[in-house]
Amino acid sequence: MKPLPWGDYPRIWIIGLVAVGLLARSAPAQDEQSDADLLKEARSHFEPLPKDMATAEFPVSPERVRLGRKLFFDPRISSDGAVSCSRCHLAALYATDGLPKSLGVHDQTLPRNAPTVLNAGLSFKQHWDGRFANVEEQAKLSLLGPGFGNPDYATAMARIRAIPGYVALFQESFPGEPDPISEDHWSKAIGAYERTLVSPSRFDDYLRGKPNALSTAERNGLRTFIETGCIDCHKGPGLGGLGFRKFGVASEYWKATGSPDIDKGRFGVTNDPADLYKFKVPVLRNVAMTPPYFHDGVINDLPKAVRIMAKVQLDIELSDPEVESLVTFLGSLTGTIPESFERAPVLPAGGFRPNSSASSHARTK
Ligand code: HEC
Ligand code: HEC
Repeated sequence: MKPLPWGDYPRIWIIGLVAVGLLARSAPAQDEQSDADLLKEARSHFEPLPKDMATAEFPVSPERVRLGRKLFFDPRISSDGAVSCSRCHLAALYATDGLPKSLGVHDQTLPRNAPTVLNAGLSFKQHWDGRFANVEEQAKLSLLGPGFGNPDYATAMARIRAIPGYVALFQESFPGEPDPISEDHWSKAIGAYERTLVSPSRFDDYLRGKPNALSTAERNGLRTFIETGCIDCHKGPGLGGLGFRKFGVASEYWKATGSPDIDKGRFGVTNDPADLYKFKVPVLRNVAMTPPYFHDGVINDLPKAVRIMAKVQLDIELSDPEVESLVTFLGSLTGTIPESFERAPVLPAGGFRPNSSASSHARTK
């Protein structure tokens, strides 16, 4: 190619500069437009977390929250004296235990994976199969389940009464009651505490109108989340927790997850064939911090869980960049753990801690 005469260079430079200038002006304008559209769309699917999850029926008085917090961390109410709510819902693991399936009293294995209790009050029902109406009912029945292993409520309440400092705390929380230590009050106090456990993240700042609270990569992930169809199930303030859906809409879940046994989910509660393999859509807040995944904890890492979701729920094979993008977005849902959860409270002294051979064996195993 013949070199251009020197005189032509300035013209090319000018054309080039004008073109670059136009691009530079219009590109951010376009970005701003699409950022605004994305925020608007996001607000139609999601909401920022509330300050707390109190309802008219279940208020959060400071006294109840203080008592409930102590009860949550107290191992002395379990039959072997070793299990508290916080044993399986550890602050250091974002209120989970990091196990595929939790271990209850005498190290017996529970049937499912422990979900986080952070933001759990947002869910329309509790447990993977929704067997409990709310966190209060969940806390009450926990006393008799394989986690705590009490034979009946009277035995559990006797364990609380054996700790003198609790009497005044129950009285303050439920004033005017002749016998304030009861399983209903235990569950209302723990429930009140749980209803304060919200973990806001940058995603909430974003939804409140700050597009830059999320990085460009996170916003692209959010777009992928919406466009792929994850929002069909994972929506609302918790990005889940609003209904039951079949796990395995497009294909059988256990083939994709390699689950060793087939859990029938909601069917186990209702016995209705329409509920076979239905599970509560889990809240995705803090999901990056709460492996292993799914009701049986068989999947260890988030990219794998996301790929399986797309395949079995939506019949979509995601590309590696799509998976990465979704995982990046999900990371923005990691919030701040409330200080009242991160730090264990001091408990009233006393009580009886059994030391049977079975429980000491379990503890030293
Ligand atoms: C031995 C371990 C263990 C202990 C102790 C334990 N949990 Fe859990 N928790 C679990 C497991 C496992 C599940 C899931 C059970 C299921 O869905 O079948 C669960 C579920 C929950 C849920 C439902 C969350 C959701 O998204 O559906 C809440 C709330 C909860 N636990 C609170 C508590 C409270 C409060 C206590 C103490 C009273 C407690 N847990 C004690 C293991 C435990
Ligand atoms: C048709 C409803 C539906 C759609 C669509 C859907 N999910 Fe889910 N998702 C569920 C259900 C139900 C579960 C619980 C499965 C189980 O039983 O373990 C779940 C579980 C998850 C989990 C595991 C959470 C945990 O704590 O173990 C992640 C992560 C997840 N979904 C992300 C996604 C992503 C990303 C998409 C889009 C690619 C998506 N989901 C699409 C219903 C859905």
